Amino acid sequence: MMACMAIYWTFISLYFIIFIVKAQNICYKCDCTISEEYSDVRAVRKVQPVCNEGSFRWYNVYGGALRINFKPIFRGDFRLCFVLHAENARVQISQELPNESTYSVNYKRPAGLKRLLAADGRTNETCITSSGDNIHLFLEPERTVESTGFSFVDMKFIMEKNNEELVYNTKEECRPCTDIELIKAYCSHSDVVIVGSMDDVKHIQDQTDINIKISKVIRNRELLIEGPKKRNGPYITETMTRHRQCGVEYGPGLFLFTGKWRLGQLKMTCSPYFNDWSLVSKRAVLEGSMDCPVVS
Ligand SMILES: *[C@@H]1O[C@H](CO)[C@@H](O)[C@H](O)[C@H]1NC(C)=O
Ligand SMILES: *[C@@H]1O[C@H](CO)[C@@H](O)[C@H](O)[C@H]1NC(C)=O
Repeated sequence: MMACMAIYWTFISLYFIIFIVKAQNICYKCDCTISEEYSDVRAVRKVQPVCNEGSFRWYNVYGGALRINFKPIFRGDFRLCFVLHAENARVQISQELPNESTYSVNYKRPAGLKRLLAADGRTNETCITSSGDNIHLFLEPERTVESTGFSFVDMKFIMEKNNEELVYNTKEECRPCTDIELIKAYCSHSDVVIVGSMDDVKHIQDQTDINIKISKVIRNRELLIEGPKKRNGPYITETMTRHRQCGVEYGPGLFLFTGKWRLGQLKMTCSPYFNDWSLVSKRAVLEGSMDCPVVS
């Protein structure tokens, strides 16, 4: 009986040990936190996100390296886009070439790495197209003299089906919307619809940040993702971003702004002058092509 109990308990504790090790290595959430232990042994942690869109927060990065297996939930070729922010660290981002990889065990640097870029601060949005059903990225810290203080890396990613519609194209992203697209953006395709004016416009790396003084919120799916709303004197402001190549500059007047969340930011989509939107929506109501009630 006692022997039986002992075997039982051994089995239980073994089960727990295996579980803990696995839980450290694979992240079963869309937004994960990975923290290295302070140790002389550098370990490679394998991480596989289970969502098509999400983020990693990796603390104390000098304790190890990260091997991320991006495998979307849908099947087929895809495009992985990410923005990485490295604080008090310089991180080398490489892609494992599937034909050259000799990766076998957990705690070893893989062979056949193609260097993509190094991050020290925020990177531009970077996109890679898959050939096959996954993309392996390898993140390793490079110690620099200036690297003092608490190190962390924040990586936001999205995996999208690689159909023609989605192929990244700033010309497509920057062109003005048609009336039909505008009505869709207003009624259903956006996460945020607001009426407001530009407070200021800043160009930072590959993007333009447009700070908006909000006059009226028409729709805000904030329950889905918490947004960075700020109070600025009597106004509530919201920041939307656009690719820098779209060449957005400050302009006075009232606008209808529509936006969608992507990589942790509110990306500006169709955003006409409010007067232009009024004409479009009035005409659509008369023609019976308005998809939803117009908030006045
Ligand atoms: C592996 O693939 C890369 C890119 O497709 C190519 O440049 C390289 O020569 C290949 N290596 C081998 C050993 O086939
Ligand atoms: C980031 O994007 C900006 C603007 O498009 C460009 O000038 C800059 O060279 C890019 N930086 C890197 C590291 O590619």
